[in-house]
Amino acid sequence: MTSTGLPRALGTCYYPEHWPQEMWAKDARMMVESGLTWVRIGEFAWSRLEPKPGVLELEWLGTAIETLTAAGLKVVLGTPTATPPRWMLDKHPDMLAVDVEGRPRGFGSRRHYCFSHAGYVAESRRITAILAEAFGGSVAAWQTDNEYGCHDTVLSYSDAARGAFHDWLEARYGTIEALNAAWGNVFWSMEYDRFDQIGLPNLTVTEPNPAHALAFRRFSSDQVVAFNRVQLDEIRKFSDAPISHNYMGRVTDFDHYELGRDMEIATWDSYPLGFLEDRVGASPARQNAFARQGDPDFQTFHHDLYRAVGKGRWWVMEQQPGPVNWAPYNPAPLAGMVRLWSWEAFAHGAEAVCYFRWRQAPFAQEQMHSGLLRPDSVPAAGMAEVLQVASELAQAPQVEANVADVALVFDYDAEWAWTVQPHGQGLSYFDLVFEHYRALRRAGLNVDIVAPTHRDFSGFQAVFAPGLMHLSDELRHALAASDRLCVCGPRTGARTVDFEMPVPLPPALEGLEVTVTQVQTLRPDRPVALDGGGHAVGYIETLDSSADVILRDISGASVAVRTRNMIYCAAWLDEAGLDRLVELVAGQAGLTRRVMPEGVRVRRTPTQEFWFNHNARRVDTDAGPMDPASVIWRAL
Ligand code: GAL
Repeated sequence: MTSTGLPRALGTCYYPEHWPQEMWAKDARMMVESGLTWVRIGEFAWSRLEPKPGVLELEWLGTAIETLTAAGLKVVLGTPTATPPRWMLDKHPDMLAVDVEGRPRGFGSRRHYCFSHAGYVAESRRITAILAEAFGGSVAAWQTDNEYGCHDTVLSYSDAARGAFHDWLEARYGTIEALNAAWGNVFWSMEYDRFDQIGLPNLTVTEPNPAHALAFRRFSSDQVVAFNRVQLDEIRKFSDAPISHNYMGRVTDFDHYELGRDMEIATWDSYPLGFLEDRVGASPARQNAFARQGDPDFQTFHHDLYRAVGKGRWWVMEQQPGPVNWAPYNPAPLAGMVRLWSWEAFAHGAEAVCYFRWRQAPFAQEQMHSGLLRPDSVPAAGMAEVLQVASELAQAPQVEANVADVALVFDYDAEWAWTVQPHGQGLSYFDLVFEHYRALRRAGLNVDIVAPTHRDFSGFQAVFAPGLMHLSDELRHALAASDRLCVCGPRTGARTVDFEMPVPLPPALEGLEVTVTQVQTLRPDRPVALDGGGHAVGYIETLDSSADVILRDISGASVAVRTRNMIYCAAWLDEAGLDRLVELVAGQAGLTRRVMPEGVRVRRTPTQEFWFNHNARRVDTDAGPMDPASVIWRAL
């Protein structure tokens, strides 16, 4: 079966509360005429839904939903909990999240709540129940809150968080003696007598115990999942419509797989140009080359990640349609990119792509953020490309089944462990995984990102699992037992679940005779050259091994070794080194590697092959010459 039977659709994000009611029907009509199906509303409207505590004004939202639905649109209703109104602070003065320096985060923008504040959790339950009861029968989908974790809002060092952390620790460790032993608190006389003596891991004189810091990160992630569940419980009492949350780019402070397990669809907010400026971490030359196109791999990394989070079902809930307001520089997308980004999402399996936002708001924080319409309601530059995508979609297949060559494991817990103990400046697990992803895409391969709880690798030709600092026994067995080529390292199995160095020493992979005997991190200006090309950069381990050596450094020391299906790579490799590793693995796994020109990427579905040229220049590809910022597809 190649088709999932679901249509590919377009949509937009709309704020009826920002515009006079007389405009709504015309807006709805224009949305439909533009080929849009979905409209998301409501996610920041709390001050208009409940202007005073307990005083509800829901009629306007009912009218908005009716108007949009009557025009033929399907409504996604957001719960408004990312923006508690000002009166909420009078009611719950201690509900604000507290930053790492111990300062409460102020009112006057958004996301100013602490996930652990019981009073606010109850308010969030209450408003969700009210909306679910009122509109559960009339909306086609739900969104909980808005972008959990955006603006650095998962970790809160509040009193509420501290109290909840004590309960979490007690549930996990049972006794204080067990916690002291698990964390190694004998070191520096850090032993506790009672759970309620334990502080949060901020404001310590020097670094806190890494076991303490990691426990706090796991706790904080669980708080987000619990906060979300409260809303799901209320919505499901009144509505059968699917529920989603809109995730963000490179926000890793909570375990998205855990949250996603509870919901029907994952969605995410894709701002390619903003991201290239503020979070991709690309070189200045690359930022310059792709300033108006966005990074060629960053969006698809998240498409592939959130496909896993959504258990196969995912959307782009917010797609950049023109310049944004929040990055260091905010250029306009090159002509063709809004269409390219939309088709790229569909090629990776999106059910819907919704543009943020319908009309540019001439007031408040985002007045410099473009929409599909200008503030005077005239179509903005991006609209022409949306119309083109809409007409192309009418001729295109429905959402197709996924095709994958390679699995790449991404583990939020490993991201936190590397953050707690990078061991060298700037070393980030996200970057390590993302650099592997880039290398796989340079080789023209379809990549599935999978959770560390994934066990069946039979659908892939090879598995890459770099940097899993804690490797569960189940995954260790599953990798060894699979007959697929598995590439682990560096830092695989380097810590127990409580952040202790295990003995026998890592990586202790079944069937692979290799021990890491020393670990060092490298200055950026001291890479280690590999024999045959490429370098180890940032991070390198010394191996004691009798396995076959497949990569060495120029002194002859082993860098990657293999026995049967298991490969261990002991270093963080640069681009050339990773290309060699991928070439080696592809060759041995029987994968067809197609070396992509710079900035060109390919993606297969069961029936089609899509080619994307992210360059600002024309490029010759195996699929023929491609215009700047263009997409082409051909039947397979
Ligand atoms: C997203 C957010 C939207 C809007 C947008 C601007 O992060 O969900 O509400 O702020 O960014 O680009």
